[in-house]
Amino acid sequence: MNNSAVEQAKEHFGRVLEQQLVRIEKMKAGEEETDYATLKPIIIGIIGGDGIGPYIAEEARRILEFLLADEQKSGKVEFRNIEGLTIEYRALVEKPIPDDVLEEIKKCHVTLKGPTTTPRKGDPWPNIESANVAMRKELDLFANVRPVCVPSEGIDWMFFRENTEGAYALGGDGIEVTDDMAIDFTVATTQGSERLIRLALDYASKNGINKLTLITKANVVKTTDGKFLKIGYEIAKEYPDVEVDDWYIDIMTAKLVDPKRRTQFRVMALPNLYGDILTDEAAEFQGGVGTAGAANIGRKYSMFEAIHGSAPRMVDEGRAQYTDPSSMIRAGAMLMRHIGYPERAKKLEMVLDICGQFEKKLVMTGRDTGSTGEKFSAYLMETIRDPDLEDRWQTYQAV
Ligand code: IPM
Ligand code: MG
Repeated sequence: MNNSAVEQAKEHFGRVLEQQLVRIEKMKAGEEETDYATLKPIIIGIIGGDGIGPYIAEEARRILEFLLADEQKSGKVEFRNIEGLTIEYRALVEKPIPDDVLEEIKKCHVTLKGPTTTPRKGDPWPNIESANVAMRKELDLFANVRPVCVPSEGIDWMFFRENTEGAYALGGDGIEVTDDMAIDFTVATTQGSERLIRLALDYASKNGINKLTLITKANVVKTTDGKFLKIGYEIAKEYPDVEVDDWYIDIMTAKLVDPKRRTQFRVMALPNLYGDILTDEAAEFQGGVGTAGAANIGRKYSMFEAIHGSAPRMVDEGRAQYTDPSSMIRAGAMLMRHIGYPERAKKLEMVLDICGQFEKKLVMTGRDTGSTGEKFSAYLMETIRDPDLEDRWQTYQAV
């Protein structure tokens, strides 16, 4: 009995290995990189997702359409709404991304995506894979780029989280070998580690930041984290202007809380699961995950999203309209920068800082004691239109 369980598990493991080898071949072949400068129209898909997703996606769409109004008129940019990435529909077809929705997503060059509910074992939904994780794998969005910035504390961090490997790549592929034994897999590849770390090094080098920190637990997770670390140091040799050091994830989580040490970190590259955890902690300094946006970058496609979940409780309790849309709007700013509008992205980020961190004329509390998302984005919009915006920003910089 146990023997056959072991045989079945071996077969399963064999299939997992074969799939990963195929993925490596695809990475080696490379994919053509999208050139937004020559592309017309750049199709921007807006995916509401579920829970609070559609509420905050709507606010973000309004602001982007406003900032890109000229491009929309000239036909350089086109917005598309993508329906159906809801937990109800995903549960119905038992797929993390229903085929027809995926087809629509693939017709867009970039997407702005609201949060999507991820079922877990024991939930009333079928235990389907996370839509985020599926999209990252399906569109090969290998880098999850997450900035966290608190100017008043001297915090200016850019996290490069590996997005298609680690424990996540095979998170849905674990096996319950027997009733008593469950096994999950984690994977690191040369190609996958290299492309992520290279992106982080390029970013550091182009922005005149002379430091990259690699974060692993390579003293214990020797093989996969060991590979990530080794490749990091190897590639670093090609970037003599960037100094590379490395920290273990446990002490790193502690150092982020240390006001004397944390400002030294600037650009960080780390495997998938550590990146998931550390970026939530990091976002807390900025006002919580509700304020943080993220870019999921691939060569062909890119997707921009809030880093938090779909908060179904907010909807159940009738509070969805009080959700802070800042994370999605911040993701929208990253989207604009990515497709070639860095000035407008900067302006939007400035406005988010002025309204959310300095001026705080309206405060979001997630309930009726604070502003609604709609009123908050009207406040943002009004600030964008302010001809004296730059002066207003300087006032806060001087403080
Ligand atoms: C994130 C989220 C996702 C992740 C979940 C929803 C699967 O926490 O984007 O950080 O773990 O990657
Ligand atoms: Mg997370």
